[in-house]
Amino acid sequence: MRIVYDVKEMQEIADKYRQWEKTIGFVPTMGYLHEGHLSLVRQAKKDNDVVFVSIFVNPAQFAPNEDLDKYPRDIKRDEELLKNENTDFLFYPTVDTMYPNNFQTYVSVENLTKVLEGASRPTHFRGVTTVVNKLFNITKPHRAYFGKKDAQQLIVIKRMAEDLNIDIEIIGMPIVREKDGLAMSSRNKYLNEKERKEAVCLYQSLNKAQELVDSGISDTNEIKSQMENVIKSYSIPKIDYININSLTTLKPLDRIKRKDTLISLAVFVGKTRLIDNLWI
Ligand code: PAJ
Repeated sequence: MRIVYDVKEMQEIADKYRQWEKTIGFVPTMGYLHEGHLSLVRQAKKDNDVVFVSIFVNPAQFAPNEDLDKYPRDIKRDEELLKNENTDFLFYPTVDTMYPNNFQTYVSVENLTKVLEGASRPTHFRGVTTVVNKLFNITKPHRAYFGKKDAQQLIVIKRMAEDLNIDIEIIGMPIVREKDGLAMSSRNKYLNEKERKEAVCLYQSLNKAQELVDSGISDTNEIKSQMENVIKSYSIPKIDYININSLTTLKPLDRIKRKDTLISLAVFVGKTRLIDNLWI
């Protein structure tokens, strides 16, 4: 695996593969890799001739009160994990490389970013879409892979690619979970032993929702209130939001719409904010 720090160099490598008519698969990450990230790398390996992964903890998507400084990092371990997956190139730029002093251009997707995560984190998606756009211009992939774990992010990036005529296939991948159902996340590292046990409440409440939907209940208020009860049966977790929205418009739904429903929630487990979701 070759590690590339420089933008021009990464672009020249991408150009070469394109001249050789090889397909490029790209997996953007913020590092501290786990099986969720690696599932994207594996799919990219299957679908493409060459795989680029990026690791960049993107300051633009963190608000001043968020965890940018303490976001977990372990580049040596990440390198080993990526080598084991036969990753071809790791793009690992510095903050100054990505955001030089005179940087002043942002990409923002309008309506889809005003709800859910965007309502709780108003500047977050502008940072995500800006950096993903930059990373697309640097790695020039044919296909890019994103997890359904960050459902709104995937939907927003698909919208951006379509709206800006970005010629890249955006591929959404299933949520990878721990044995007890907790969705894998770099932020799970923040949890102490007791919090880790209670963090399963997100998954449990989504299971409850699935059960209700399967039994024919479609009233979303009923489903949300039963999900709330599941979370409230635990002692630590505090709900930020539970929402049921259309997958295409992200507008709130009164009734479940088969194949167009996203049930999502954000919960504070101690100081750690966790998200999870279910695609109906
Ligand atoms: P990060 O949180 O590192 O996630 C990188 C990719 O891995 C995202 O597409 C995310 O949805 C996916 N992922 C994370 N946990 C997963 C899980 N348990 N199962 C499946 N996929 C999972 O998301 C970001 O970084 C950043 O916002 C980024 C897109 C890199 C832009 O900075």
